[in-house]
Amino acid sequence: LQRVPLFQDLSVSELEIIAPLFVERDFKKGTILFFEADLGEEFFLIQSGVVKIYRIDYAKEIILALFRDGDFFGEMSLIQKGLTRSATAETLENCKIYTLIRSEFFQFLERSPKLSLRLLEVTMERLRKANEQIYDLTFLDVRMRIIKVVCRLAEEHGTIKQGNWMINMKLTHQQIANLAGTVRESVTKVLQELQEDQIIVIEKKMIYIKKMEAMKRLLPL
Ligand code: CMP
Repeated sequence: LQRVPLFQDLSVSELEIIAPLFVERDFKKGTILFFEADLGEEFFLIQSGVVKIYRIDYAKEIILALFRDGDFFGEMSLIQKGLTRSATAETLENCKIYTLIRSEFFQFLERSPKLSLRLLEVTMERLRKANEQIYDLTFLDVRMRIIKVVCRLAEEHGTIKQGNWMINMKLTHQQIANLAGTVRESVTKVLQELQEDQIIVIEKKMIYIKKMEAMKRLLPL
């Protein structure tokens, strides 16, 4: 738990109090952890794997966030008493997740101002990203939105090796479309063009960005 950003300001003794309260659970890829509008009873912290947070409207889906090891979610409906889950959570890989029940989540927050402040900080970071998503969906065209999503995935979930960025997450074109608010066909077309321009390479469904600078020049300042 020491490596979890949410707990980074806590002392070892504080961590020792918290650790035993978490229940470690395994979830197979493709498991719905909860649905939008469910009652929120638990807080989730990912030990390994990837979780998709999304909203769905008939056949269309918008991905609000992708979370991985060290990330937490499910805090909103716990803190906003009387409100339900604001989105659906589904595992994109086999996951190990720690869960914490509502009453214990609150005990923590009440006991540790440092933890509350850290939670607020992460929430603000998420609000900033949500603002960015509103901006992109309002002002950028589809091609730019797709390029921006790929850049963001590389920066948030990628590693850089000899100047090449690799996105450490196997995503389908449909999933990239659901992050960019568009359709799969547009993603396939834009990725194809980026490959032809030798800006990216796709191998075994993994995206490698060969020329990050060139990619960024395609975006507005
Ligand atoms: P909760 O509403 O309990 O259930 C869905 C969870 O998804 C929510 O808590 C947050 O943890 C997370 N979530 C919802 N919207 C966003 C967003 N825009 N960005 C990041 N995380 C979100």
